[in-house]
This record gives sequence, C-alpha cells and structure tokens, in this order.
Amino acid sequence: MKIVLVLSGPNLNLLGDREPEVYGTETIDDHVATFTRTLEGAADVEHVQSNHEGELVEAIHGARGRCAAIVINPGAFTHYAWSIHDALAAFDGPIIEVHLSNPNAREPWRHTSVVSPVATGSIIGFKGGSYALAGHAVNKILAG
Ligand code: DQA
Repeated sequence: MKIVLVLSGPNLNLLGDREPEVYGTETIDDHVATFTRTLEGAADVEHVQSNHEGELVEAIHGARGRCAAIVINPGAFTHYAWSIHDALAAFDGPIIEVHLSNPNAREPWRHTSVVSPVATGSIIGFKGGSYALAGHAVNKILAG
C-alpha cells in the first residue's frame, strides 16, 4: 500500500481554537480525517505535526524512498524555513503545499513561500476545503 505523509507545522496543533475567523473551527485531526476520506483508500496516511523545524526536516528525510507523496502545511515556516525547502527538494515524489488561509491576501511577510518553488502545486485559501482539494490532487497524481 502506498503511503502519503501529511506534515503540519508550528501552531497548527492549536487549530479549532486559534484565530477561528482566519483558520476556521476544525482541528488538525479533522483536516487529516477529511484528507484521508477524500483519498478513498488509495493510500495509507501518516500525519506528523511539529512546532520544531528540525523534526519536520527529519520527517521529510524519513519519507524518502518510502512515501508516494507529501502534503505539507508548514505554518509560518512556509515563509522562511530554507531547511524545509532543501529537505523537500531532496524528496523525489509529488509535494502538495496546503494553506487554510490565503497568505497572499494577508500581511506582506506571508507573501513569500520558500516551499512553493519545490512543490508540485499549492492549494491555498479554502479553509477546511483545502485538505479535501489536496486529497483530490493526490488521488489524481497517484492514479497517474
Ligand atoms: C498557514 C498560513 C501561515 O502564514 C501561518 O503562519 C499559519 C497557517 C495557513 O494554513 O493558512 O500558521 O499556513
């Protein structure tokens, strides 16, 4: 069975409680459940949430040669964590960048993504819908 690694960056463990007007009211577990449902059994899903850059880097290393795709919401690391950029560049499968909000419509410092240049594609701004759309994208990619 193929494995898809879902990665969640800092502060995403607070979803549901954190700025619901920006991020919605669902928890990260709700989003992972939505993503998993949308995959319709096409792959097993592993989820790692961490507030630490190095842990996310190590999770990406652990996906090399093992996981069929990575779905990543790097949280604020999106905007400056070049170590995550480099780790993703060393992953040889598809990478889907996901955001609940639309960072391009927010503060200027959120307008740069260091992840986008190494992503296959990005899904941003649909709140919980972003994870369902990511599931559809991964399904299409895995089906070839
Ligand atoms: C986010 C957007 C980031 O700018 C922010 O730092 C987050 C969440 C999103 O999903 O909208 O933590 O990645």
